[in-house]
Amino acid sequence: MGTKERLLEFFERNRGRYFSGEELAGQLSVSRTAVWKGVNSLRKEGYQIDAVQNKGYCLSAHTDILSAQGIRGYLSPECRDLRLEVLQTVDSTNGWVRGKAEAGEPEGYVVVAASQEKGKGRVGRSFFSPADTGVYMSILLRPEGLSPGEASKITTMAAVAVCQAIEALSGRQAQIKWVNDIYMDGKKVSGILTEASVGLEDGLLDYGILGIGMNVYIPADGFPDELSGKAGAIFESPQDDGKNRLAAEVLNRFMKACRTKESSAYVEEYRKRCLVLGREILVLGKGEARKARALDVDEDCRLVVQYGDGRMERLSSGEIQIRI
Ligand code: BTN
Repeated sequence: MGTKERLLEFFERNRGRYFSGEELAGQLSVSRTAVWKGVNSLRKEGYQIDAVQNKGYCLSAHTDILSAQGIRGYLSPECRDLRLEVLQTVDSTNGWVRGKAEAGEPEGYVVVAASQEKGKGRVGRSFFSPADTGVYMSILLRPEGLSPGEASKITTMAAVAVCQAIEALSGRQAQIKWVNDIYMDGKKVSGILTEASVGLEDGLLDYGILGIGMNVYIPADGFPDELSGKAGAIFESPQDDGKNRLAAEVLNRFMKACRTKESSAYVEEYRKRCLVLGREILVLGKGEARKARALDVDEDCRLVVQYGDGRMERLSSGEIQIRI
């Protein structure tokens, strides 16, 4: 890590506190000129570093810029082994992690981007990923002995983690549109895309990539026409360090759920936030849309539906539509 990165780490651990140039130089074992240069580079990147005579420098509590140093400061001890990388922009964080996975990267690599140029959504759709108002992240998982059928667990666990993180930080309720969309007040604020690679020999998951996109704030120019009315944001106003806190909160909750063998608790959390239960839905598939009623979410987070002719089905993946 260079001086700028170490300075940022120190500032992030001490947000809102003042340190003289001399103290900073001492802490990092560098010269005061190096500190001054580091402060200037961070300011150029948008960090609000206040300077007050006789007090020194201080990273403003309001600064809200994604960084590995910032996220790490909020991670729980169980997440300290995650290897975090933060990028300004990337085609798709899922694509980026796939490249790493194919090159043999072990489980626990996480990439977070401030924007994506080709953010991917489910069923070939794109995911609108403008700069600085969202968090777009992907986690590399190598679960042992997981069949492709069970991989949807990754998505449903993540949906619960995202809802819990949102609720903890915003104080507002988040709901799940089965299977992977997160809504607040009738607007989609987050989407999840899990991609997997299956081993040819054992038919088990070689790796899974969990991708989570969150609209943290309303973009400066609003959402594009095709999303307006449907998309929303998690926060209505700027938050102190909102994006780093949200990213960390999601990681903390997801990794904890992942490492807990007992799954019934998270299924209950999923069920209670599932906004389709008891509602008329359309089950989409193979060029047709069939009317059904969503009855329940079972112990594997499959959606239990009943069609007009009384036939029941348990959906483990796929698309449904509902008027929200
Ligand atoms: C959906 O709503 O259909 C799923 C959207 C998933 C978007 C996230 S953003 C981070 C990760 N990288 C991607 O390219 N897509 C996922």
